[in-house]
Amino acid sequence: MEAEQFTVRFAAPEDDPAIAALVVEGFLDKFRPVFGGRMDRSLKVMEKWVSLEHASGGVTSLVVEGYSTVELAASVGVRTAPSRDDVLARGLWRALTRNLGLPRAVWATTLLSYPRYSHTSSEAYVERLVVSPPFRRQGMARRLLAAAEDFARDAGKETVGLHVSGNNLSALRLYEAEGYVETARQRSFLTAYFLGTKNWLYLKKTL
Ligand SMILES: CC(C)(COP(=O)(O)OP(=O)(O)OC[C@H]1O[C@@H](n2cnc3c(N)ncnc32)[C@H](O)[C@@H]1OP(=O)(O)O)[C@@H](O)C(=O)NCCC(=O)NCCS
Repeated sequence: MEAEQFTVRFAAPEDDPAIAALVVEGFLDKFRPVFGGRMDRSLKVMEKWVSLEHASGGVTSLVVEGYSTVELAASVGVRTAPSRDDVLARGLWRALTRNLGLPRAVWATTLLSYPRYSHTSSEAYVERLVVSPPFRRQGMARRLLAAAEDFARDAGKETVGLHVSGNNLSALRLYEAEGYVETARQRSFLTAYFLGTKNWLYLKKTL
């Protein structure tokens, strides 16, 4: 089945748990070191994170329905407004301490603070683009990215930016093919050691 045959739509609040599940599944290599022996709690924390982003983070999510309307095959978040950082940070901290305990919450907060992002009013920010493994290589990410760009354009943005880890070759190929170019790079020895990612690239596309 081709990506065009699947439905892309805006996420509804009921989609938050399914989006969280897609993100945990798609970024397991990043979440395992963060959650350690508490991996079973990662879904709860991510669900809270996604709903906080929607409520206070200036983020709108787009999703692709799978073979039925209740199943999601892919999702992406698009930030078009500044977040209420205090609300986001407090909510996430509460979810982390409740689910992981204080020491692990401190550790998780440290690792999850990479890559660092700051909002620019003329730029939309694409985040947590993820396609469920059985649906990959069918053009879904490309389609979702195009929908995110349309949404950014409609919101009056001139550019779209995103972060990608330097060793995520499949994502890098996708972004480069779609016209994104590297404009900045952050290096972290902490994430190099614990997450296997030393370079976080910032890519940008003019709409
Ligand atoms: C990266 C990801 C989103 C790609 O999703 P996808 O739906 O399989 O991608 P598409 O089918 O739209 O592929 C578009 C292009 O990306 C590149 N690409 C995608 N997967 C690739 C792979 N495994 N190897 C090499 N190139 C790849 C290709 O250039 C491809 O074009 P082509 O099929 O015409 O050759 C998916 O692999 C994923 O969810 N990975 C885990 C989460 C993640 O890393 N997200 C990106 C965060 S920055």
